[in-house]
Amino acid sequence: MDQKHNQLLLAYYYHTATTFFMIIILSFLFVFIPTLNSTIIIPQPDPLIPEILNFLDQRLALVYPIIQTFKNTITSDPFGVTQTWVGPNICNYTGFYCDNPPDNLTALTVASIDLNGFRLAAPSLDGFIDGFPDLALFHANTNSFSGPISAGIAKLQYLYELDVSNNMLSGTFPAEAVLNSRSLTFLDIRFNLFYGSVPPGIFVKRLDVLFINDNDFVQRLPENLGETSVYYLTLANNNFTGPIPRSIGKASETLMEVLFLNNHLTGCVPYEIGFLTKLTVLDAGNNQLTGGGGDTQLRRKPSVRTGAGGGVCIGEYSEPVLIG
Ligand SMILES: *[C@@H]1O[C@H](CO)[C@@H](O)[C@H](O)[C@H]1NC(C)=O
Ligand SMILES: *[C@@H]1O[C@H](CO)[C@@H](O)[C@H](O)[C@H]1NC(C)=O
Ligand SMILES: *[C@@H]1O[C@H](CO)[C@@H](O)[C@H](O)[C@H]1NC(C)=O
Repeated sequence: MDQKHNQLLLAYYYHTATTFFMIIILSFLFVFIPTLNSTIIIPQPDPLIPEILNFLDQRLALVYPIIQTFKNTITSDPFGVTQTWVGPNICNYTGFYCDNPPDNLTALTVASIDLNGFRLAAPSLDGFIDGFPDLALFHANTNSFSGPISAGIAKLQYLYELDVSNNMLSGTFPAEAVLNSRSLTFLDIRFNLFYGSVPPGIFVKRLDVLFINDNDFVQRLPENLGETSVYYLTLANNNFTGPIPRSIGKASETLMEVLFLNNHLTGCVPYEIGFLTKLTVLDAGNNQLTGGGGDTQLRRKPSVRTGAGGGVCIGEYSEPVLIG
């Protein structure tokens, strides 16, 4: 029995020792050989798997991919602003501003984007502006953005100021975006390539500012133009035709500046313009407005230019009547 037991013990030790040496040899193979041979490629972490980012708020995590996707479409960035668009500190990105949203004052969100003058180029703002659910202001003047304005911005419940002037945006007037928005009061799409017509509905929309000059709008001025609530209205340098609608007198309590210059307007300057008590600037120059006098009421205004002739009509539309 004892001998059998010793044999078993010996076999056991032998087995253990073999295992031990096997481990030593394998360790040597795995640990030392690769370091001796420098050409062995050590696998790198997959660059497509993003690092774990710690956002200050869930709302910032939500817009992070929107920003990165847009950044990847930017074709020109002469000042290198998008180099700051990295990592989880979105509130620190150049052009992005955070604030507490009205619906949760302890949350933190992107409340404003200001890309003015960055001279960025991208084929579209679609999916970018409308990707920020809490956005109140979007300013991107003097860049080279193209494409239309997405109807999706209408769902941004806090957006009240949209300035995309001086870009290469095109398409028809962003009617759906503006008409369906319940918060927008300031629209500036000057100096772009928008074409077609401006829907009359825009003049019954509660806006403060409507800057649409220097586009390619071709249209007879809508009859309801004067229903507008805006303080500033610029229609200059388009192809607007027809007369200045007499309804303009309805804007008497609000309209302060109106620019009609460089269009193809005809007829006479309506007498009702004299009702505009708040008006400080009117320029209807360089149109085909007829007449030869000028309203004394109008001429008292500091900066009124009714254009060649400066005719003012009362009574029937087709009959210019000179006053003063
Ligand atoms: C924000 O950016 C500035 C420089 O642009 C840097 O000094 C600062 O550390 C940044 N803050 C955070 C929290 O990343
Ligand atoms: C408000 O925002 C904070 C921070 O994101 C969040 O923890 C909290 O749950 C939110 N409250 C409500 C009522 O949604
Ligand atoms: C707009 O007016 C210009 C003349 O000022 C003219 O050359 C151009 O063809 C017009 N565009 C359209 C679309 O009617």
